[in-house]
Amino acid sequence: MAARKIVCLPGDGIGPEVTAEAVRVLEALPLEVEVSEHPFGGAAIDAVGEPLPAETLEACRGADAVLLGAVGGPKWDGGAVRPEQGLIGLRKELDVYANLRPALGEGVDLLIVRELVGGLYYGARGTREDGTVFDTCEYHPDQVERVARRAFELARSRSGRLLSVDKANVMETSRMWRRVVSSLASDYPEVELRHGLVDSVGMQLVVDPYSFDTLVMENTFGDILSDVAAGVTGGLGLASSASLGDRNPGIFEPVHGSAPDIAGTGAANPTAMLRSLALLLEHGLGEPRLARSLEAAVTRALDSSPTIDLGGLATTSEFGSAVLEALEAEVVAL
Ligand code: NAD
Ligand code: IPM
Ligand code: MN
Repeated sequence: MAARKIVCLPGDGIGPEVTAEAVRVLEALPLEVEVSEHPFGGAAIDAVGEPLPAETLEACRGADAVLLGAVGGPKWDGGAVRPEQGLIGLRKELDVYANLRPALGEGVDLLIVRELVGGLYYGARGTREDGTVFDTCEYHPDQVERVARRAFELARSRSGRLLSVDKANVMETSRMWRRVVSSLASDYPEVELRHGLVDSVGMQLVVDPYSFDTLVMENTFGDILSDVAAGVTGGLGLASSASLGDRNPGIFEPVHGSAPDIAGTGAANPTAMLRSLALLLEHGLGEPRLARSLEAAVTRALDSSPTIDLGGLATTSEFGSAVLEALEAEVVAL
């Protein structure tokens, strides 16, 4: 098989620090890969004046998978263009509509499926003459259907329980969302579908995270609830994600941001990034056995060399080394 092309977008803050550990691991795997790095986010604004340069987008389109660090930081606050616009643009360009955000640990094993290219993030926005500013939540039923089908399929491959999260007691888009999701249920008789209102689901996630399996929801709801789910399972240092479409390469990135408060200190936990790399191996390259080996190696390293955010002492690169060491044993056992 030809070498698999992985495009790396390290980005800003701790993005490059955790990406470096993922590249070390990627290059140690028994897999022929061609890794290339491209400017993205604030780093690209500094280099060429825009967060998603055309050359970077082309490289992403031609890749087998995209591995992304994080973008943003106070340096670019108030500028004409923000690093985050690059990320919003890239997701739309690659049409990665299903964002899988697993939360794992402390007895919890749930999966948030966040719609990623519609809803409040992509609706009409602007400023009226009187100074009123608006962002609108918009969905076409087809956009709801495709992400809901992904979620039904994922629920079927897990415990068979799907919770659709909305705000149908207030919002039109949510009422349509609930109608569309409900209409698909008969295609998935093995899946038990329930609906929940986002405010109460947020509360339940905090008090009883063990009761959840697969959840599907609008873009903004998913952004917020995935940080909540990360919080109850040990923090943002652990939470990974995979953004998938139908045709284009997927984007694999941690749930966390550029963490400017700890950038440059060696305190970034690369677990979220390494778990995103495992998702890349599974969903981006079709290598589930390697994905399982990497996950197992990360679990071992969390045990033997916990990072600073988890109350341990391991720095970013020390943790990476512990994963590499554990991986040798795992891969030999393959
Ligand atoms: P953040 O996720 O960067 O950080 C929140 C808190 O979690 C901080 O205290 C940080 O130190 C900690 N944290 C995050 N990742 C960690 C890790 N791997 N190890 C240890 N601790 C970790 O959120 P924020 O501070 O609100 O945002 C900072 C910037 O990141 C903003 O510009 C935001 O827009 C951007 N952001 C980018 C992405 C992305 O690129 N995907 C995601 C979220 C936020
Ligand atoms: C995330 C981030 C992004 C989002 C930002 C940086 C645009 O918070 O991936 O969760 O809101 O989607
Ligand atoms: Mn977020």
